[in-house]
Amino acid sequence: MEKQSFSEELFAKAKAVSQNAYVPYSKFKVGAAILAENNQIYVGCNVENLSYPNGTCAEAGAIAAMVAGGDKKISKILVFADTQELIAPCGACLQRIKEFSDASTQVLLANAQGVQKILKISELLPFAFDNSELKK
Ligand code: THU
Repeated sequence: MEKQSFSEELFAKAKAVSQNAYVPYSKFKVGAAILAENNQIYVGCNVENLSYPNGTCAEAGAIAAMVAGGDKKISKILVFADTQELIAPCGACLQRIKEFSDASTQVLLANAQGVQKILKISELLPFAFDNSELKK
């Protein structure tokens, strides 16, 4: 199946899982859906905590599900929030996404109207910390 054709499925799954977000503090529901290399889809939602810094983002949940499922390469990640203004992954999540990305990885940003932007991780996180220095 062609890669592009998964976008609607990613959108539907990210939107659906956002409804399960545990957000008693922010009331801001986010859903994420990852298309992994083998065409498996993994989802996550944000899970907040009374001790605020312990809350986790939707993207982190989806990445954890992907790794638990045995996959390590993100082909696409779609982030959904029902907002007028598009939201982008936070800085920490960009680094998390980068860990499992390559130049072909797509980050799809969506609101209730559908996918509004498709970006590369290098556009969202230019001059990123990578392991080229660690290898020396
Ligand atoms: N949040 C995400 O889950 N993903 C994002 O891309 C942006 C922010 C969550 C964290 C917190 O639970 C709520 O949205 C408000 O910041």
